Amino acid sequence: MSHHEHDEHHYEDGTINPRRSGKLHYHEDEVRPLAADKLIHRQPHLDLHADKLTRKAARDIDIPLRTIQLHISELPPGMQSNLHKHHNEAAIYIVEGRGHSEVQGVKIPWEKGDFLFIPSMQWHTHVNSSDEPVLYLGITNKRMLDWLGLDRRVDAGINMPMEEVEKEIAAAKFSPYSYYSVNPTDGVRFGPEGFISHSD
Ligand SMILES: [Fe+2]
Repeated sequence: MSHHEHDEHHYEDGTINPRRSGKLHYHEDEVRPLAADKLIHRQPHLDLHADKLTRKAARDIDIPLRTIQLHISELPPGMQSNLHKHHNEAAIYIVEGRGHSEVQGVKIPWEKGDFLFIPSMQWHTHVNSSDEPVLYLGITNKRMLDWLGLDRRVDAGINMPMEEVEKEIAAAKFSPYSYYSVNPTDGVRFGPEGFISHSD
């Protein structure tokens, strides 16, 4: 390959993209200085559909943090995110709007300015029960767990109760170290979670 063209480990200008290159630490010569435009991601909430793999209005914040992942998500009025759980732990900051989450079956109302904590591997879903859009910032340790190969996620859709999902997982003897989806619409899917992907 000539000079890193279309190499996801590098930016187009040939400098290393620390998010993609598969190493947690670098010699300082490899990563400094980053071009000024790598130090800022301007107005990501204006481009919520930029992550092509997600059908949701959500995207990673594109700054090269190695251990922390940030994402911004919009939840339209009346919408609910899939019931899911993952090994990464998360803080959710409500930028706009109000609604509630269910965390391991417990309903937690929230509004603009609140921080919500999602512990590792607890089922959760976010609900916008208002008539205004909800915008929230997710802060997770997903990047660090990805480096270590340890972040896994379970998706269950919005209509399957937590107890039913657990029964199905137990019956199928899925490995807790696999990614799988038991969404009743999409069926069961296996495979590692994307190295970099939105996670709400
Ligand atoms: Fe989540």
